Parts: sequence; structure tokens; C-alpha cells
Amino acid sequence: MARTLRITAPDDWHLHLRDGSLLAAAVGHSAARFRRALVMPNLVPPVTTAGRAAEYRNEILACLPPGSGFDPVMTLYLTDNTTTAMVAEAAGAPHVAGFKLYPAGATTHSDNGVTSIHRVMPALEAMADKGLVLQVHGEVTDDHVDVFDREAVFIDQVLAPLCRELPELRVILEHVTTSDGIGFVQSGGDNIAGTLTAHHLLYCRNDLFRSGIRPHYYCLPVLKRRRHQESLLGAATSGNPSFFLGTDSAPHLRGQKESACGCAGIFTAHAALELYAEIFDGMNALDRLEGFASHFGADFYRVPRNTDEVILEEFAWEVPASYPVPGQPGGDPALSEFVPLRAGETVGWRIRRTDVGDSGEAAVD
Ligand code: NCD
Ligand code: ZN
Repeated sequence: MARTLRITAPDDWHLHLRDGSLLAAAVGHSAARFRRALVMPNLVPPVTTAGRAAEYRNEILACLPPGSGFDPVMTLYLTDNTTTAMVAEAAGAPHVAGFKLYPAGATTHSDNGVTSIHRVMPALEAMADKGLVLQVHGEVTDDHVDVFDREAVFIDQVLAPLCRELPELRVILEHVTTSDGIGFVQSGGDNIAGTLTAHHLLYCRNDLFRSGIRPHYYCLPVLKRRRHQESLLGAATSGNPSFFLGTDSAPHLRGQKESACGCAGIFTAHAALELYAEIFDGMNALDRLEGFASHFGADFYRVPRNTDEVILEEFAWEVPASYPVPGQPGGDPALSEFVPLRAGETVGWRIRRTDVGDSGEAAVD
């Protein structure tokens, strides 16, 4: 008998959905697995206001079939020009949970990011006052800092001082990749949490260079040493409610990844919950998956836990080599498809639904 696991429906607290045809191609994968997702605002141009977030949310919902229970939760892109009035408007908007801090130049589409934390202090104080959550891409951008040290240096130079200065501010260190990040969250109070991606739990930097350079394993923050991966695995499966699920699933067209200057971002939404099940199973901690995937994030964001359930089943299925992007010129794979994590390889768990085909892939509405 295949092992099964029944858990409260999970949420993804860090997701890139893009817009246009890539949004249409990507969103069903998340909607098939997660009840809620915190949708990142790094579009071009970025989503900086509550009004634009409401429009973007409608664009997302328009890509889903009627009756889909998927509930996008929005975060706004913090810039040097975010005013306290914009923060007040965000606090009053339904579906807006907070602001995303991208240090300018840190990652994909972050050109409009914050150039210095001092410039946004009035906005951050207003956020603390209103109980909004700051989601942080925690890397310095200084060229002199080694790319593998950028998270640790950011914590030392920016994040820890900020949290000391504004202890009421509710902060999530997104996609934690180092033992330094884990230590920071563990020693923070109730206002500090961290999300963990499946890919940082599954892989280390050796995987980026296994028999050659592998652009589909490239993301930011970049994969780190094995000892950091072990620290993340320990935190995810510890039962500490300060750590919860955020995939950072980030689709890019094949041509943008397989390039002389490939984009950062790994697409995992097609198998996200299943990959976390593999990870927790590998740590003999399947009993802790539900807290991590379905309870702790909702508790931190002060929203009710979901009431419906999903069933996971141990079952090996093969991930397609790519997914098509509708409306893109056919024929040229560089422009008309994106490559998921584990393309052509197997995933060891599936979601058991009445509409799951023989392939094991959860049906994408
Ligand atoms: C993200 C993207 O592609 O938008 N890329 C990534 O490597 N994670 C941006 C981000 O979250 O850093
Ligand atoms: Zn991200």
C-alpha cells in the first residue's frame, strides 16, 4: 500500500506569477495545490500601489476557471518613493498583506528597488504602526561582497539593525538560504519569520555545476554550500512556527534561462507540495509537513487556517520536459515554453485528486 498523508490545504507565501501569457501558463499549477499564495509584485513596471494590486489580482483570477478557490494575497513593491499615504492605503485594502523590499539591483526586475533603507524609514514606521508585513529579499548588492555571502552581510548590516530600531515591524526573511539566516530568524521574536523554498531544501551549489553549468538551478539568492542546506532542512522540519512554506516559484521563458546571461528563477509550482513532501519524508518528518505548509504561515499573517484538506500519496511520476506558453509564437522553444524543476525526472509524491490522470500530475485547471 502506498503511503498517504492528509493535511489541511496549504498556502504558498512567496510566489511569482508574472503577467500576460506567462501568467496564464503558470497560475493553474499553483491553484491546483495551494489555497492562498502571496503574489510577488516584481512585474515590469512593478506593482507599487493598492489600486494596481487590485487590478493585478483580477488579472490573476481571470486566468482561473469559475469556482477555483485560489485566493491571491498581494504585496506591494517598496520603492524609495513609497509614501506613508500609500502605506495607509495598502493597510485599508482587502487582499494586501504588506510590502516587498528588494534592494535595488538584487535580483530579477529589482531596478526600482530600495537604494538605502534610510530612505524608506517613514514608510516602514507606518507599516509597523498598521501591522503590515515587510517581506525581505535579504541580499546586499555590493559588487565587493562575494555572491555567496550576500545574505549574511545583509543580515548584519541592514536587517538586524532595522529590527533593533523598529522591533514592532513584522518582518519575513524570504527564501532563507544560509545558517546565518536560520539563526537570525530563530533568535528573533514573534515579529520575525522566514520562508523556505523547495529548491534550497533539495539542492546545494554543487547541483548548479553538476557535469556542466545548469541554468535551471540558478536562482537568487543562489544555492549555497551543503552545510547551509542542512541547516535549512533542520529548521523546516523542526516544528518551529517561525519557518514556513514559500516556493519562490518563478517561471522564465526557456530562452531567458538558457542564455549567455541567464535569468535567476526556478519554476517549482508544478510539483511544489509534492517536493516538500519528498523533503520531509527524507528527514523522517512527514508529521511536521502540515504545520510548515498549512498552519504557521496563516498564523503569522493572522488569517484563518484553511478548513479543507488535500491528500498526498507516495507515487513516482515523471515531470514533463517543458510546459507550453499559450499565445507565444510556436516553433521556437526559446519563446514558447518554460522548463520546470526536475524536467524529465521523477517526483516521488503526488496529490491524490479525483481528477489526477495516470501521469500523476495534478490536473491544472
Ligand atoms: C525571482 C524572479 O524571477 O522574479 N528570481 C529568483 O531567482 N528568485 C526574483 C526573486 O525573488 O529574487
Ligand atoms: Zn521571489
